[in-house]
Amino acid sequence: MYCFSVRAFRSRLLSLGLPALLVLGPVPAPAAGGAARPAAAPYLDPGLPVAARVDDLLSRMTLDDKLGQMTQPERRYITPAEVGTYRIGSVMSAGGSAPSPNTAESWADMVDGYQKGALSAPLRIPMVYGVDAVHGHNNVVGATIFPHDIGLGAARDPALVRDIGAATAEEMAATGADWDFAPCLCVARDDRWGRTYESFGEVPELPSAMASLIDGLQGAEPGGPASVLATAKHFVGDGGTEGGRDRGDAKIPEEELRAVHLPPFREAVRRGVASVMVSYSSWNGVKMHANRYLITDVLKGELGFKGIVVSDYQGVDRIDGEAGFTRDEIAKAVNAGIDMVMVPRKWKDFIAGLRAEVKDGTVPMARIDDANRRILTEKIRFGLFERPMADRSRLTAVGSAAHRALARRAVAASQVLLKNDGVLPLRRDAKIFVAGRNADDIGMQSGGWTVTWQGSPGRTTPGTTILQGIKQVAGEQAKIDYNRDGEGIDETYDAAVAVVGEKPYAEYHGDRPGGLALDDEDVRTIERLRASGVPVAVVLVSGRPLDVASRLGGWNALVASWLPGTEGAGVADVLFGAVRPSGRLPVTWPRGEGEEPVNRGDGKEPLFPFGYGLTYGG
Ligand code: GLC
Repeated sequence: MYCFSVRAFRSRLLSLGLPALLVLGPVPAPAAGGAARPAAAPYLDPGLPVAARVDDLLSRMTLDDKLGQMTQPERRYITPAEVGTYRIGSVMSAGGSAPSPNTAESWADMVDGYQKGALSAPLRIPMVYGVDAVHGHNNVVGATIFPHDIGLGAARDPALVRDIGAATAEEMAATGADWDFAPCLCVARDDRWGRTYESFGEVPELPSAMASLIDGLQGAEPGGPASVLATAKHFVGDGGTEGGRDRGDAKIPEEELRAVHLPPFREAVRRGVASVMVSYSSWNGVKMHANRYLITDVLKGELGFKGIVVSDYQGVDRIDGEAGFTRDEIAKAVNAGIDMVMVPRKWKDFIAGLRAEVKDGTVPMARIDDANRRILTEKIRFGLFERPMADRSRLTAVGSAAHRALARRAVAASQVLLKNDGVLPLRRDAKIFVAGRNADDIGMQSGGWTVTWQGSPGRTTPGTTILQGIKQVAGEQAKIDYNRDGEGIDETYDAAVAVVGEKPYAEYHGDRPGGLALDDEDVRTIERLRASGVPVAVVLVSGRPLDVASRLGGWNALVASWLPGTEGAGVADVLFGAVRPSGRLPVTWPRGEGEEPVNRGDGKEPLFPFGYGLTYGG
């Protein structure tokens, strides 16, 4: 007896590429509290090919559905109910935009709340929640905070970076956040840039190698357990702007753009990255957010990128350089190839403006359909229709001992020993004086993008400070004293450790066009230690090389520690020789501030060349 199955017949039609609307499947009564869920609809059938599911869903969508899918508001400016009413495709958290209390569980409650809103719309298309988990799930208090990218570039270990991606994805999955605006694959060419620490290095080979973070975030099989969408950013040339000005203009020939800044994106596309974020910066005077040649012809055409191109935060508003939103900016951005617009506040204006541009033909419907096809393909590829809610079984993974051990290993691998007259490694039975404003401060050693957008000094999240690490790793016979300013040191100590460097910052707040000198406070601390006659090892906690050439002669050792994150014991592992230093410079270290930009092969004479790094015992 052959039982006629609507579902089988519809699946057959779809597999032949025929529109499934010809076959009216049973549409059950509305689910409790929700709209009618077309349970038999092919787009809901995980057994069908992704393309067939997308075709079916697209055929059911109204213009409102499609415009909503392309809209990504910030959580503070939209309610879960509005997410359903306006068919919103994605919601995001700006840096530090968190629920209260800021715990993993309340994150899961918040994100699930928006998801329920999305699923209340007739087609019940799940929204995807985006966050900047750029060195762990760093918006969440209690999450594991890994070293920032510049330190991972110094470690030169793509497998380690992949494992960090996997750990980050697991902590994200627990909270329902399934889109990571990472990795930053920028190639930082001028260390005065405030985002230098978000770069894996100054040559394309390093960011390209560390694109392994994508494999960790997305998993071997996208859509598998703890698999989140990764984002290659910021396309393209953000690290090549004149003077290292954030959001500035990369005034370079296309040959250099292609040789230096494009390769990491080619590698990200090869690895199947789900999304690419467009840079705020310009190339030779043209805003990247309106650059159809680079987004559509090069990224989507030449590189064959099939995922989602997302704008940066209010990136479309900034195309004309004026405050506010115009229809012309919307049309320019969407026609340039941007598929999802990160429009934190004015998302209703965006939807209305885009609708008007479609109605008058400025933005062709084919462009809208292409954007939706890309968005829906990634949502289906990553299993959002089957698993739209937070995976609370992984809440115990957030800040877990295993993840912190991985982070500690990464911290140790990222340390670069630049000078050592023998004061390092420290003896475990020594009498050691520790000083410096970065020694006992989780916020200072984590840097920007930590709990808040800019990061901040203080005990911002659980972790181990560098001083606590020194006390943990030193033997019981050791005597460790600490004073932030170095007050109290005398000649009875075997060694002094000055942990100094930069305060946290993010983006343009970190631009330093005036130079990269050490802060006066740090200079005073080091000089106070040196005056005692005790040998001094300087540990530099910074997002980039600083101008130390004129002072280095008076230091007995120098370690570039970068921005290690919550696991400060990794620094102590190297200081005591539990782990031999193996890190190598991912960026050239300038001889003086007048030297920037300074990069491998530019003929200048740096203080330390790209790739430099010492170890113990020669
Ligand atoms: C920021 C950054 C970008 C980030 C986005 C969302 O301004 O440029 O890297 O992903 O906004 O927070």
